[in-house]
Amino acid sequence: MKKRILFAAALCLAALSLISCGKSKKPAGNLPAYLDENRPLEERVEDALSRMTVEEKVALTHAHSKFSSAGVPRLGIPEVWCTDGPHGIRAEVLWDEWEQAGWTSDSCTAFPALTALAASWDPELARLYGTVIGEEARYRKKDVLLGPGVNIYRTPLCGRNFEYMGEDPYLSGQMVVPYVQGVQTNNVAACVKHYALNNQETDRFFYNVTIDDRALYEIYLPAFRAAVQEGGAWAIMGSYNLYKGQWNCHNQYLLNDILKGEWGFDGVVISDWGGVHDTDQAITNGLDMEFGTWTNGLTMGKTNAYDNYFLAEPYLEKIRSGAVGTTELDEKARRILRLIFRTNMNPEHKTGKFTSPEHYAAARKIGSEGIVLLKNEGGLLPIRSDVKKIVVVGENAVKMMTVGGGSSSLKAQHEISPLDGIREAFPQAEVVFERGYVGDAGGEYNGVSTGQDLRESRSAAKLIADAVAAAQAADCVIYIGGLNKSEGQDAEGADRTALGLPYGQDAVIEALAAANPKLVVVNISGNAVAMPWVDKVPAIVQDWYLGSEAGHSLADVLSGAVNPSGKLPFTFPVALLDGPVRTPEQFPGVPGDDRRPIFSDVLVPILEENYSEGIYVGYRWFEKQQIAPLFPFGHGLSYTTFAYGEPKVSKSTMTAGGTVTVSVPVTNSGSVAGAEVVQFYVADPECSVDRPVKELKGFSKVFLAPGDTKTVSVTLDKSALSFFDAGKHAWVAEPGRFEVLVGSSSADIRGQVSLELR
Ligand code: BGC
Repeated sequence: MKKRILFAAALCLAALSLISCGKSKKPAGNLPAYLDENRPLEERVEDALSRMTVEEKVALTHAHSKFSSAGVPRLGIPEVWCTDGPHGIRAEVLWDEWEQAGWTSDSCTAFPALTALAASWDPELARLYGTVIGEEARYRKKDVLLGPGVNIYRTPLCGRNFEYMGEDPYLSGQMVVPYVQGVQTNNVAACVKHYALNNQETDRFFYNVTIDDRALYEIYLPAFRAAVQEGGAWAIMGSYNLYKGQWNCHNQYLLNDILKGEWGFDGVVISDWGGVHDTDQAITNGLDMEFGTWTNGLTMGKTNAYDNYFLAEPYLEKIRSGAVGTTELDEKARRILRLIFRTNMNPEHKTGKFTSPEHYAAARKIGSEGIVLLKNEGGLLPIRSDVKKIVVVGENAVKMMTVGGGSSSLKAQHEISPLDGIREAFPQAEVVFERGYVGDAGGEYNGVSTGQDLRESRSAAKLIADAVAAAQAADCVIYIGGLNKSEGQDAEGADRTALGLPYGQDAVIEALAAANPKLVVVNISGNAVAMPWVDKVPAIVQDWYLGSEAGHSLADVLSGAVNPSGKLPFTFPVALLDGPVRTPEQFPGVPGDDRRPIFSDVLVPILEENYSEGIYVGYRWFEKQQIAPLFPFGHGLSYTTFAYGEPKVSKSTMTAGGTVTVSVPVTNSGSVAGAEVVQFYVADPECSVDRPVKELKGFSKVFLAPGDTKTVSVTLDKSALSFFDAGKHAWVAEPGRFEVLVGSSSADIRGQVSLELR
């Protein structure tokens, strides 16, 4: 009897281990195909689809809470859970409210903003970023990460530029691919956003973009295409605005023709929250999943109105009445099932990690590699380790920046402020803090509070006087200001109104420059700012919103523990109107004749916006117009120097299907180890169409010890020489001579080689 019990127990244990051990040990024969992890994904999808009712399929296509949609409970197919994105995993909110759910286990690692990642110009760091944020998402049982964002930096006023990867389609394309791949190694879908032409926040639901096809294909689409075709993104988010008179969450041209047609996207199109406006178009024009409609908090409407979603009861009614068939429904359900089998039901059963030391180390590294040294006269930086007294001035030295900015706001487990980082990096020094100005004393967003009390009673004049008095006696003054995540600055939902620094900061900086020549200005922002004092300040550092490890990353660079190697992912103009976007017709758009009911029965005029600058965005514009920027695209200094040798081309003639390799030896000619981002731009001096002076087509970040030389190379094919011919609707490279310019920034070209396309 005892033996029999033991035997039965052993059998139970064996059975249990079969259940828990995953794929190869499951008794595949008895399982329905969709549950059999050994079967190909498409077979699982088709099998699940064949078992579902119309009602179950429709239920897949729309949200049933703020961030989730139903699975198929009857079949054991789980819900789809989404999360913002893109800088960390958003804290849990209530079922249908934006308010906090009050969990105590959802304080995440806050990673640097995507502008910082782009400024690292290091695709391997993008892979690391994707991998660690994907691990956090998976640990928190999220299937879709709402990010990354790759909308092109068109105007420095755009409130969400900090969430994107700069002004150049090639750079953002190179950075988004490994990010997406890194995320998805965790069985979490990257949802690349906001597709497309969403380059402003002003009236984001109401503007219709007119743009020529060449600019669309050359500037605004390449990063999305790279994310889909090279990165293999499993999801993409439609944007709020309109293109060709159709909202982009159900836009025939962008979604059906280009994304699913030309690019062969097999993933899920997810609406932005509240971006769906019409059942018929939502059915036919490429949307797969509807989120955020009519939910309170974001738009008007009632709570728990999920049955009223455009793709819920209204969709079912149309099917029942015979007004529409089920072909589109099957296609949507198929894509959503594919997403579920790629994520939650992926045979790999990844479990993720959360707030691990490796995640903080990654955040710190990405942050410090993204910081850009804009100016460093007299070698003021790095700050000497024997410095006695450092005066730190500016609200951004202490203000917690992980809270705020819109949907990317985070509840971080910890956030090291710049002041804390500096104190830690210079233990021998007396570090004094002076506020200097009052920006935003609030520290709350969406129910998450920083816990900081930044209220201040001193007048602006007194704050400056106190800062100046402290600065006079310092060995070194570090001013840390810039923008913040408050509305109207670097934040979702509104754009900036001016290029200048807010809160009277220019006066503080001028006063400090007059008080002490050893002044370092650290600008924290996700956007270019005006610097009227640029000639009066010896050292300027472009910092970003760097998340949990912000203070450590900055102090690493200020102290020289890390030699800066970031390069600007967008141009800093001297003045706003130096840039390409100059008229209200270009931004933010002017009311046209089209009026539509949006979120209510009231007719709202749609703004017509013309991207009339065409392909001339960022450095393409500044170079074409010969307008000198404040700091050019690709600029960034180091504590060492790099000497470039002669660039060489592997063969001087490229055939249509061939490639050439351009290489250049680069030497660290200074005395400390450092990294240089070698940039390769292509110019097409003779062409039947107008082309930019040059365009980035390759780059490589090389790490060099003092005195070391490495040869850096990139391989170019015909795509690097092509322009988009709208008439032919094709990429065209015209035979003839091309120049490859090799440099340290777009304005610092160190050599060039010619090649001939046959
Ligand atoms: C934003 C998206 C975000 C979504 C969910 C929208 O308002 O535009 O980027 O992912 O909200 O929070």
